[in-house]
Amino acid sequence: MGADLQEVLVSEEAIHARLGELAREIWRDYQGKDLLLVGVLKGAVLVMADLMRALPGSAPMDWMAISSYGSGTKSSGVVRILKDLDTDITAKDVLIVEDIVDSGLTLSWIMANLASRRAASVQVCALLRKPDAAKVEVPVRYVGFEIPNEFVVGYGLDYGEHYRNLRCVATLAPHVYR
Ligand code: IMP
Repeated sequence: MGADLQEVLVSEEAIHARLGELAREIWRDYQGKDLLLVGVLKGAVLVMADLMRALPGSAPMDWMAISSYGSGTKSSGVVRILKDLDTDITAKDVLIVEDIVDSGLTLSWIMANLASRRAASVQVCALLRKPDAAKVEVPVRYVGFEIPNEFVVGYGLDYGEHYRNLRCVATLAPHVYR
């Protein structure tokens, strides 16, 4: 896998340290609230696993699957629910756990959708954010790392379903795209 990579943008150690910090912050902020972690499949699987294990106490999770990139590298902005939540989120304090906020199109759609189900609150925790790419302003309360506007893989993020199992976040070498 190493030969396919160009540059490591965020190391495994940095990811774990930052998720630990975010978990403690989230735990403090949600004291006395009815926290539900909502992951967006499939990219958020690894973020969810490590973030929730870093929480000082217990919190339930649920998952949504929506249509996203396929094998390309551009967001379509077209969102379709492939798998909905199992949980009734009425009056719950929903924290959406995301891998990356790129254009923000997907996330703004999910936030509006969940808010319309009468959740008490809907906030976002994203491991990565590409600030230069934002097409819509999405309030992301917890951000792991700001990264440049480049296509990245690893730690749940894929290119044509590959590289999700990479332990760091990296850019791909140009030969991979040919
Ligand atoms: P957005 O709608 O442009 O914010 O992107 C939504 C989804 O696209 C993310 O949740 C990721 O699954 C995927 N995505 C965005 N940027 C990247 C990237 O650099 N690498 C891999 N997937 C990405």
